Amino acid sequence: MKTYRIGMIGLGGMAHSHIRWMAEEGRYEIAAVSDVNEKALAEKGDALGIAPGKRYADFVQLIADPDVDAVVSVTPNHIHAAIIRACLEAGKPFLAEKPFTRVFEEATALLAQYEPRPVPGMIGFSYRYTPAFRYARELVREGKLGTVRSFSIQYLQSWGSVLNDTPYIWRFDPEITGTGTLGDLGSHMIDLARFLFGEFKELSSQLRTLVPERRDPATGRMVKIEVDDFVSFQGLMSGDEAGIFQSSRNAVGSGNQHEVTIYGDDGTLHASTLDPERVVWTREEAPGRLARAVVDVPAQCKVTQYGDFLSLLDGGTPDGLPDFMDGYRNQEVLDAVIRASRERRTIGLPDSSDRKHG
Ligand SMILES: NC(=O)c1ccc[n+]([C@@H]2O[C@H](COP(=O)([O-])OP(=O)(O)OC[C@H]3O[C@@H](n4cnc5c(N)ncnc54)[C@H](O)[C@@H]3O)[C@@H](O)[C@H]2O)c1
Repeated sequence: MKTYRIGMIGLGGMAHSHIRWMAEEGRYEIAAVSDVNEKALAEKGDALGIAPGKRYADFVQLIADPDVDAVVSVTPNHIHAAIIRACLEAGKPFLAEKPFTRVFEEATALLAQYEPRPVPGMIGFSYRYTPAFRYARELVREGKLGTVRSFSIQYLQSWGSVLNDTPYIWRFDPEITGTGTLGDLGSHMIDLARFLFGEFKELSSQLRTLVPERRDPATGRMVKIEVDDFVSFQGLMSGDEAGIFQSSRNAVGSGNQHEVTIYGDDGTLHASTLDPERVVWTREEAPGRLARAVVDVPAQCKVTQYGDFLSLLDGGTPDGLPDFMDGYRNQEVLDAVIRASRERRTIGLPDSSDRKHG
């Protein structure tokens, strides 16, 4: 079977996970790297054994390199659209980190480019590969919970809390990040809801900045924060499932707590990154007798992100792979959350059957 030569753009924190995942899968060879940070480029280039001629300061050159079969993009959010645009222009398959773009306007421009000439693309909605979430999707689809009426999703982290005295970094700069916790963690919540239930019909929201200023380590001065670090929204999905969502970077004690509780007529299911290979399932054991069981996730729900990327590169269409259109629609929902909060009203989402890629 073919081994794919990967060009990797962005060699910071999250790149470590991507490099490990590729190594665990096999059939990947990192053939070229790109970073604007010279030190990161030299250190990672050395660690990965990349020849000097395959270390690029400019990602456009990496994408054009004929020795690169596919691109993995792990840069801050303001570069996402430019990298996807260059991959579409070059016809190079890609796995690009979330959020899809910094702002929705970039996503609509990419869609116009993609529609006449699609290229295989995957967006880094990695929680589709949390076994408990995939099992929840299977149980919903098989009707094991009965008709689902409502659900709640939360994604809580603590790294931004006052207790941590977190400095001003790019994740607080709107020119680089776009939104705060909304695009960072909220995009995962939106993707999980879409993965489980399909499209959003409408939503209302509030975006808040709970920690108003942070110290810039470069200048020592306090900087006013203009992106959210807390978001809550409520939405209605295509099957009339009503959902509530909350995300925070200031949830003391929550390291990386992403979870869903699904309420169906025949039972309730809870799935969480805190226990990714099990779900908690409450159902009627005998007439009138409820039982709550911790259930192991079956083997068929243990699918990997880089295993699916291989299938995509091989020409397949793996079930549930987060593709280009998932990225676009996610950005559309993110934009609706921003507008709903700003305009203090409920926003309707376009019906996906109205679109070409319905
Ligand atoms: N899917 C997930 O669960 C998950 C988790 C963490 C981060 N992410 C995403 O990964 C992305 C990167 O996050 P991170 O934590 O690794 O950030 P980071 O700041 O640690 O690393 C980003 C790297 O990109 C480099 N870079 C910046 N501009 C560049 C350019 N023009 N060309 C090439 N390299 C450039 C930086 O120098 C840095 O080395 C973000 O978009 C984030 O949303 C996803």
